[in-house]
Amino acid sequence: MGHDTNRLAAVILAGGNGTRMRSKLPKALHPVLGEPMIFHILRAVARSGIPPERTLIVVGYAGEKVRQAVATTGPYLFAEQTEQLGTGHALLTAQSGIQALAQTPLGAAENLLVAYGDNPLLSSQTLNKLINAHFETQPLVTLATSEIEDPTGYGRIIRHPATGRFQAIVEEADLTPEQKQIKEFNPGVYVFNTNWTWDALTRLKKSPKGEYYLTDLLGFAAQENGNPVEMTPVEPEDILGINDRVQLAQVSDIFRNRVLRELMLQGVTIVDPASTYISAETEIGQDTVIEPNTHLRGQCRIGRDCQIGPNSILENAQVGDNCQVMASVVQNSTLEDEVSIGPFSRVRPGSYLETKVYMGNFAEVSRTRVGTGTKQSHFSFLGDTTTGPNVNVAAGVITANYDGVNKNKTVIGANVFLGCDTILRAPVTIGDEARTGAGSVVTKNVEPGVTVVGLPARPIKRKALKPAEPTINEAE
Ligand code: UD1
Ligand code: MG
Repeated sequence: MGHDTNRLAAVILAGGNGTRMRSKLPKALHPVLGEPMIFHILRAVARSGIPPERTLIVVGYAGEKVRQAVATTGPYLFAEQTEQLGTGHALLTAQSGIQALAQTPLGAAENLLVAYGDNPLLSSQTLNKLINAHFETQPLVTLATSEIEDPTGYGRIIRHPATGRFQAIVEEADLTPEQKQIKEFNPGVYVFNTNWTWDALTRLKKSPKGEYYLTDLLGFAAQENGNPVEMTPVEPEDILGINDRVQLAQVSDIFRNRVLRELMLQGVTIVDPASTYISAETEIGQDTVIEPNTHLRGQCRIGRDCQIGPNSILENAQVGDNCQVMASVVQNSTLEDEVSIGPFSRVRPGSYLETKVYMGNFAEVSRTRVGTGTKQSHFSFLGDTTTGPNVNVAAGVITANYDGVNKNKTVIGANVFLGCDTILRAPVTIGDEARTGAGSVVTKNVEPGVTVVGLPARPIKRKALKPAEPTINEAE
């Protein structure tokens, strides 16, 4: 940070029709790496030191949807652009909202960071570079600039042929054939002197397409005295915009590789970056190996020395150290250390697997807490269940947790042995050390140490066997 953010506010323009996306979803909400693209921009703005209370989002097309999505992430300010009359007009709709800051304890914004809602590659480093340059030289506008081989579609930066000083930005549609050769383009990130900006916006003229271009403001600034326009070069990979779904894929790929690179440099092995999708919010510990075709979505936290994948999907998963998840799905759940899952199993939301839990193939748990050392090696289902430690869940065990109206709970004590094809009709409690015979249908609570068999399951007067050492690969 370093700069005095009290003197700054941000405006994100996200009111456009997004015509080129050909979509009913507003462009700002199209996902990049699993999150609406505008979320990435808002995160970068927040990390640059401008809090949501000082960040105004201009919404317009499908504005209510954008507003609702964004409001879940922070107390942002909004302005409504009822007619999509261009980026200059969009900024003008932000005026009263930004000026109102002066009447709050937050204080007036003497400077304004303006970015577009279709620029998810923007990083806080890039923003800080711009903000610092602006505070240092105090021009009317600080403008990011960049160069790419083919800047078709972007506004081009026109410089004075002799002095190299900034003159104007010309939009693609208005370029002369010579200007089309210019490779320097307008990334669309600016820091403005706020008071100058409100005045200059009133001088904008409609383009032949009937829009008020924010970019024309830069031309106005260039005609003022002193040092009106400060230019800050940025890497093209930090600012490529998204106007259609081809660019959506290109930008998503750059973004994805940026996240993977960061993780690899922190000591995570990514075996095949080309087939690995990891959200920007994921944290992974050292020496964990991410195998091919693995997707880590939402906010995942993975510990050290884990092996995730191949072919796994984890969403908002908390995973301890030394865990394995092979060809399986884990959603909104926690795995303590040394848990092993898969292949082909699913941990559904609200589950918690304690240390050393082993889930083999075709095992499913939902809203279930599994006690330490418990083994569920084969196809089976535990729902709304709590198990004690060292339970053996054999092939075919099912908790019948849903009676058609309510989800009912099953409680399984410590060291319980559930035989093959046991059905537990919830609500039901199985005491510590109890056993069920193969094919039992348990409809009543089972006392500790008791063995039940049959349909409905009844206690038998046989002394409970001492549980055999469970093996991992065979049906017990
Ligand atoms: C804009 C710039 C161009 C720059 C490029 C960088 C202008 C006139 N052109 O072009 O110089 O190279 O971005 O990516 O600014 N929006 C509104 N209301 C409107 C119109 C647009 O809020 O009436 C919003 C859009 O939702 C979008 C942003 O402004 O997030 C930019 O609009 P877009 O149509 O994508 O402009 P570009 O053609 O990309
Ligand atoms: Mg754009």
